[in-house]
Amino acid sequence: MELARFLHGRPDDRTAGITLTHGRAYEAFGTAFFAGRRRRVFARLAELSGARPGDHALDVGCGTGYLTRFMAAAVTPAGTVRGIDPSPDVLAHARRLSGRHPHCTYADGVAERLDAPDDTYDVVVSSLMIHHLPPDVRGRAVAEMLRVLRPGGRLLIADFRPPAHPVARHLVGALTGPAMEHNPVRLIAPLVRQTGFDEVTTGDLSPWIHHVRGVKPQGAA
Ligand SMILES: C[S@@+](CC[C@H](N)C(=O)[O-])C[C@H]1O[C@@H](n2cnc3c(N)ncnc32)[C@H](O)[C@@H]1O
Repeated sequence: MELARFLHGRPDDRTAGITLTHGRAYEAFGTAFFAGRRRRVFARLAELSGARPGDHALDVGCGTGYLTRFMAAAVTPAGTVRGIDPSPDVLAHARRLSGRHPHCTYADGVAERLDAPDDTYDVVVSSLMIHHLPPDVRGRAVAEMLRVLRPGGRLLIADFRPPAHPVARHLVGALTGPAMEHNPVRLIAPLVRQTGFDEVTTGDLSPWIHHVRGVKPQGAA
């Protein structure tokens, strides 16, 4: 059985995104998939997000909260991090794993309709979530991230970068499904720019990550 079919969940009528089930299994998969480099990659993503002590941050599609907890360490002592995800299974796991992090809270929610007033957050991050959304919903999700950031607030989106070698790519597809095998990760930066972010920059982290950063312009609605 394709691993994706086991990990990916039941239909959710609030989103056309593919939600996750089995928080514990996803954690084990995530650890194996990064071949010993998961901690280093996610610590670096938290650093690249520009989060500082005292910031209020949002992690969209937080899953089991792996990045959320690095963000909590970055905003400590006075800041907060909220992780949102539509999957109750992964949120329960995230809450269990985040017991020692008083700055982390988790809530049910979907990227394309964020439950937060305009200009709420200093930093918005999202890792490995965008490929879970159908292409026509991705723009709405990025527009929501822009809306809830304060002017001058910083965005970091990280997503899966398929391997260049066709055999390796095919293996990824066989294991995880077509959304990861053919992930058009280079389209994220133009989307972020088109949505209205400034100072858009991109980079890659080994083994699998492409990241895009942007800043909400001062004076943006
Ligand atoms: C591959 S996991 C990544 C989890 C975590 N960010 C990480 O880096 O380990 C993708 C997550 O996106 C969530 N997701 C799916 N559709 C979503 C939506 N419409 N809004 C927010 N999250 C969504 C899934 O439930 C899942 O937890």
